[in-house]
Amino acid sequence: MSSTAQQLPIHHERKPQPFKRHHNASYYVHRVTDSLTTRISKVICGIFLTLLFIVGVAAFITWLSLRPHRPRIHVVDFSIPGLDQPTGFENAEIIFNVTARNSNQAIGYFYDSVEAFVYYRNQAIGSTRLVDSFYQEPKNTTIFYRVLSGATLNMNSDRWMAFRNDRALGTVIFRLDVTAMIRFKVSTWDSKRHRMHSSCDIGVATDGSILPTYKNKRCPVYFT
Ligand SMILES: *[C@@H]1O[C@H](CO)[C@@H](O)[C@H](O)[C@H]1NC(C)=O
Ligand SMILES: *[C@@H]1O[C@H](CO)[C@@H](O)[C@H](O)[C@H]1NC(C)=O
Repeated sequence: MSSTAQQLPIHHERKPQPFKRHHNASYYVHRVTDSLTTRISKVICGIFLTLLFIVGVAAFITWLSLRPHRPRIHVVDFSIPGLDQPTGFENAEIIFNVTARNSNQAIGYFYDSVEAFVYYRNQAIGSTRLVDSFYQEPKNTTIFYRVLSGATLNMNSDRWMAFRNDRALGTVIFRLDVTAMIRFKVSTWDSKRHRMHSSCDIGVATDGSILPTYKNKRCPVYFT
């Protein structure tokens, strides 16, 4: 009985075997379709990641070439003639030549209210408006050459005496600040206005001319 009981299930199994094989085939077809889908999605994912990488690198290179630089302010020349004369304050002059460069590839600057201030021991001794407003193209340099005298120079005999006392020690130190309001222009987009402040110490020799170590110095530029 046990043998028939054992054979019966075998018989039973043998009979539907073609059907079971068919079932297996569809199962494999299903599996093949599955792995095909997986492979296609892998390829798509790979293409997508590659594109993302290329776009990222392109954006990085673009940013490198477009990234904003601050204006570059240099004191090319500075002098206070007549420093060797005791009564030089009567017709004192301060002459300076400052350059402002826009070193950006593609960013323009709108300058407003560009002003220069000359300080001696933190006291403003002269100031002048350099320009009301102008647009500076990328890769362009603007020269500000000015002579401060009379009303733009706040001079008196006491101050001149202080200069002369410093001069007796070899050097008179002044400070030249340039301030402006700046907007950045990228293509058709304009930034909001930022206050720019640059500041340079300037040493002047006994004859009133700028000392070589202070010549062509790049002034630090701050935005506030
Ligand atoms: C001011 O400096 C610039 C740059 O060196 C120079 O080209 C220009 O001739 C100077 N201007 C004067 C008036 O000295
Ligand atoms: C630079 O600016 C000056 C005016 O300051 C202008 O004459 C000159 O054409 C400009 N150069 C370029 C390359 O735009």
